[in-house]
Amino acid sequence: MAKNPKVTRTVPSLRQALQRYRRAGETIALVPTMGALHDGHLSLVNEARSRADRVVVSIFINPAQFAPHEDFASYPRRFAADLTALAQAKVDLVWAPTAAVMYPKGFATRIVPEGAAKVGLEDRFRPHFFGGVCTVVAKLFLQVQPDFALFGQKDYQQLRVVTQMAKDLDLALKVVGVPIVREADGLALSSRNAYLAPDERAAAPVLYRVLKASAARIKRGEAIARVLEDGVGEIMRAGFALDYLEARDARTLVAVGPRRDGPIRLLVAAKIGKTRLIDNMAV
Ligand code: PAJ
Repeated sequence: MAKNPKVTRTVPSLRQALQRYRRAGETIALVPTMGALHDGHLSLVNEARSRADRVVVSIFINPAQFAPHEDFASYPRRFAADLTALAQAKVDLVWAPTAAVMYPKGFATRIVPEGAAKVGLEDRFRPHFFGGVCTVVAKLFLQVQPDFALFGQKDYQQLRVVTQMAKDLDLALKVVGVPIVREADGLALSSRNAYLAPDERAAAPVLYRVLKASAARIKRGEAIARVLEDGVGEIMRAGFALDYLEARDARTLVAVGPRRDGPIRLLVAAKIGKTRLIDNMAV
């Protein structure tokens, strides 16, 4: 069995561990997570390994990105299993601060992004979300000061927002987007898939099927509005309450006009039972 990675829980002990790597001239890649790790997270770790000498994984369920009615309390917590998976993936260091370490009493600073964070996708349904994400990700970037930071394309709007934040703040790191890892039937891996009842799990791949069919039809030149209309119907017939199914400019996430210049990304968010799922695909 692989040896568990070193776990740090305070900023001074994190700095001490990182200093050793830096003094040896080693490069560092950071993979920010909220734990309950699955193969999607582990593909970020593998990509991190291929880019840097040392891999740091943060595990922190960030209260700042959950609204009061959301699933912070019930979000899956599996620290022991996560450590075993990270040992097998040859991770060097796990950064697992408590909420009191990340947000000590008197904490009073927030990073509130604009641009791709205000395009009417996730931000429309989770208005607090990107402020919470950017505040914690900026802290993680400054705490670890990595050369690379790995994010999944699964959370596509988050990837665009964090990439822009790193650029805007002149952070000397490269944000790398990693392709979505899916189940055999197309469902994108997510820690929240654990909430799905068997009938919901059976219905869930409709999101992937609709994205795939819609991307193919748009590529063939069919009218985007018509294609999306069909997709909305199919998702609703499968028992989902739809938040959005949209075609956006892949970089800025603004709505695409009929001229369609530049690459397009399809993005979907929908709820089945109590579980909200998101997914996306390039056209
Ligand atoms: P979490 O949901 O744990 O996801 C951590 C990272 O794993 C994110 O970059 C996410 O896009 C990526 N990921 C999740 N499922 C994936 C899949 N099926 N394929 C590829 N990558 C996948 O996203 C967060 O945590 C938080 O918002 C965080 C960035 C850690 C800030 O708190």
